[in-house]
Amino acid sequence: MLIEVSGSHIQPVANGILTTLILLMIAVYVTSPDPSPDPSPDPSAYFVPYPHRYRFILDEPHRCLQESPFLVLVIPVAPHNREARDTIRNTWGRETTVLGQVVSHYFLLGLSKEEDGTATPKEQDNSVVIGFQTSTKQQLNNILRDFYATVRNGKGELYGLSSYIGLRAGLNRHINDPPLSLSWSVLKDTEFTTCNNVFIGVVKMLRKKGLDTSVHHSSITEDDFKAIKQVLDPKTPEGLVNKVWFDVQLHFGRRGNEGNWQLKPSSFTTKTDENGLKYATLMFNEHTKNHNDPQVLEESQRHHDILQSDFLDSYNNLTIKTMVMFEWLGSHCPNTPYAMKIDSDMFLNVHNLVDLLLKAPKQLYMTGMVARNAIVIRDRTSKWFLPYSAFSGSRYPPYTLGLGYVFSLDLPKKILEASAHVRAVYIEDVYVGMCMKHLGFQLTDPPRGDLFRAWGLIPDGTSNCYWTSVITTILQNPNQLSEAWRSYRSMNTSDCLANQRLLRPATA
Ligand SMILES: *[C@@H]1O[C@H](CO)[C@@H](O)[C@H](O)[C@H]1NC(C)=O
Ligand SMILES: *[C@@H]1O[C@H](CO)[C@@H](O)[C@H](O)[C@H]1NC(C)=O
Repeated sequence: MLIEVSGSHIQPVANGILTTLILLMIAVYVTSPDPSPDPSPDPSAYFVPYPHRYRFILDEPHRCLQESPFLVLVIPVAPHNREARDTIRNTWGRETTVLGQVVSHYFLLGLSKEEDGTATPKEQDNSVVIGFQTSTKQQLNNILRDFYATVRNGKGELYGLSSYIGLRAGLNRHINDPPLSLSWSVLKDTEFTTCNNVFIGVVKMLRKKGLDTSVHHSSITEDDFKAIKQVLDPKTPEGLVNKVWFDVQLHFGRRGNEGNWQLKPSSFTTKTDENGLKYATLMFNEHTKNHNDPQVLEESQRHHDILQSDFLDSYNNLTIKTMVMFEWLGSHCPNTPYAMKIDSDMFLNVHNLVDLLLKAPKQLYMTGMVARNAIVIRDRTSKWFLPYSAFSGSRYPPYTLGLGYVFSLDLPKKILEASAHVRAVYIEDVYVGMCMKHLGFQLTDPPRGDLFRAWGLIPDGTSNCYWTSVITTILQNPNQLSEAWRSYRSMNTSDCLANQRLLRPATA
């Protein structure tokens, strides 16, 4: 087993009771041989677990309501694909006011396999991988000597004093809790003297630098305090329930209400700490569950454009991602008329899109590359294979290709209602089409067939007006997007539009 120690998102407890104090990321390294593929297709393999109550572990709960944009762009992307996200942030993601309309974007992620704890942990720049079960005290001492000297928070800065001290205490708890249960003290055992000398040196340095000041929140007002006392009054049945809930949240730092309902008296145990004081703790270690990749967390705090849900992010789970997107849009953006789902490898001309939407229907509207009468693929080697047992028709209902489609925001709630009646196949865009059919809604063709382009011929060089004439085009990689964007920005749009008008009579 490998344990990944990563200290990059430890915050002072003084930051508030709702701050989750997360000390360690544990990735369990499981080796199991790949099962050989089943020759007879089991239809259940072509459906995904949806509807299901997935939760957001990274969210921007109020941003969409506060900004009330005209258009929200949602970009499903794999957690590790930071490059694609950064490229979008530097290209079409920058277009936040277009034709006087506010446009905002969000990246939508699931959990990576690493976070799920079922795959090899990736070694990252700011993390140390320690095999605690195979290390001796001397080896751990050497690792910790370097770790204490070099550890930095998510911003690459020194930790504040209390976080830094908490880091070592947390590490000590971690190796003594199950499943490791090592019965070592990294604070007191003589084998750890050299690393603790480094630790003490850093503590002195932090004090000197004045990093021992915790920033406290202002105190609770008298009125709020009265209200809290009332709500948490253990003399009333409701108050008692609230009190117990509150204490559990406070002492065990559970994210949201996660898993609270599964806790039983047997979930808890009491232990004694290194100073002989008793404390209550959980019987089992839950740190692997829903644990965030510290780099994604840092990215989210920097850009405030990441939504991460707790399903396993994989190609075959894209339908879950899409449905979770509808859930989020349906509940977070009450004042927004339109949204677009767009893949991360696409060029997007936001100007042309907003221009289209300003003239579009406000309701029951969905457009993009509309596929009609698409044949169901029965070739088992295809990426989009679906057996008869999972879908018996020979043609799919009309659907918009998942690369990029636009819709009015009255649709998410309706599609979610339909999803309760239509079993969720793994091909996400087809599934949305099936829900639309169930609802009896039509798809709208774009005003010009060449606006949303999947496999269009992309011209070389910058000497033409291609990028000013389309809405989307699929690209190969982030470099191509940067290139296309430079080319697009270098064109004089009004010149190009004038040329296009000369070449093509304006359509109504
Ligand atoms: C899809 O996500 C669910 C929920 O996280 C998970 O149990 C399942 O293994 C995932 N399936 C695939 C094919 O990744
Ligand atoms: C674009 O072209 C028009 C007319 O051809 C000109 O008036 C305008 O200044 C140009 N804009 C830029 C940014 O070069």
